[in-house]
Amino acid sequence: MTMLYHGPEARGTVWAEVFARRLPDVPFCQWGHDTVNPVTVRFMAAWNPAPDMVAQFPNLEVLFCVGAGVDQLPLHSLPPQVRVVRMIEPGLTIAMAEYVATAALVLHRDLPHFVSEQRAGRWSYAPPRLASERRVGVMGLGALGKAALDMLKPMGFALSGWSRSAHDIGGVECFVGADGFDAFIAQVDILVCLLPLTPETHGILCRKTFEKMPRGAAVINAGRGRHLVTDDLIAALGSGQLRAAMLDVTDPEPLPAEHPFYSHPAIFLTPHVAAETRADTAGEVLTDNVERILSGRAPLGEVDRSRGY
Ligand code: NAP
Ligand code: GLV
Repeated sequence: MTMLYHGPEARGTVWAEVFARRLPDVPFCQWGHDTVNPVTVRFMAAWNPAPDMVAQFPNLEVLFCVGAGVDQLPLHSLPPQVRVVRMIEPGLTIAMAEYVATAALVLHRDLPHFVSEQRAGRWSYAPPRLASERRVGVMGLGALGKAALDMLKPMGFALSGWSRSAHDIGGVECFVGADGFDAFIAQVDILVCLLPLTPETHGILCRKTFEKMPRGAAVINAGRGRHLVTDDLIAALGSGQLRAAMLDVTDPEPLPAEHPFYSHPAIFLTPHVAAETRADTAGEVLTDNVERILSGRAPLGEVDRSRGY
């Protein structure tokens, strides 16, 4: 039984050490470096393996995605018996919570506005507001959305959350599904997108959504670029319906040099750096999950392939 890894070599080296220490009976092989007998491959860890690559391994049981999102995977063309498990690991989770907390404060304290006033040589006083006077709403109450809310809570923001199924989170007003969307969005001053990209969530940050928000609201997109409709954001910022946006993800990535996001005074842009899988902490999670499977338990982070997340 082999674990085959496809990805950056540096991370593979760390994971090979973790497997040798914790699961010496599961050889860890790196694609392109180690010779592997295809019939022994029971587990694979990769970001986006091509379907013909996966097809080489007739006994593959579990594909571990090395990232949290699985929208890049060919979920519909993988062999039906292959289980897909995504990454839920503390390094990535903490990084995302830090990013969302940073972005929420940046937007709460109007930094895009003050930075652009500074660049224009203007001293533009405006009275500060307290976090308790603003509501942050998080779309997606999974591993990352919940961690972000945990970090926002002590800052004093009023908090809301929206998800597909019901959640009960202390200190957070929770809304569910399409029926709960309008009530959720109507009171959100700073909207955070931490949804997976699926046919249902594609383009959710659009004109219709922005129009339902309080005038002067702000948006943080740390989900995927295709959650956001570019022209609708530019129009909402232009009309004043939205005040500012902080974007970590775009469509495409990287953005071409002439893209309006680079120079828009009300947009803060980061190049998909909110959170990434860390070799050390993720290596322990990966081996935990293989141990769980080998002892007949369910792995953490199993993807429902029909649902897309
Ligand atoms: P997760 O644990 O799978 O959580 C997904 C959440 O979204 C769940 O609460 C789910 O609802 C909700 N959801 C899914 N479809 C929905 C719909 N149609 N309507 C309402 N709610 C819906 O995912 P995660 O680990 O938190 O990660 C979220 C996403 O973050 C990833 O998929 C990826 O795109 C993005 N990400 C970005 C970065 C970055 O650096 N920018 C890094 C990592 C991940 P239920 O709870 O009811 O199932
Ligand atoms: C990064 O965006 C991930 O999905 O892990």
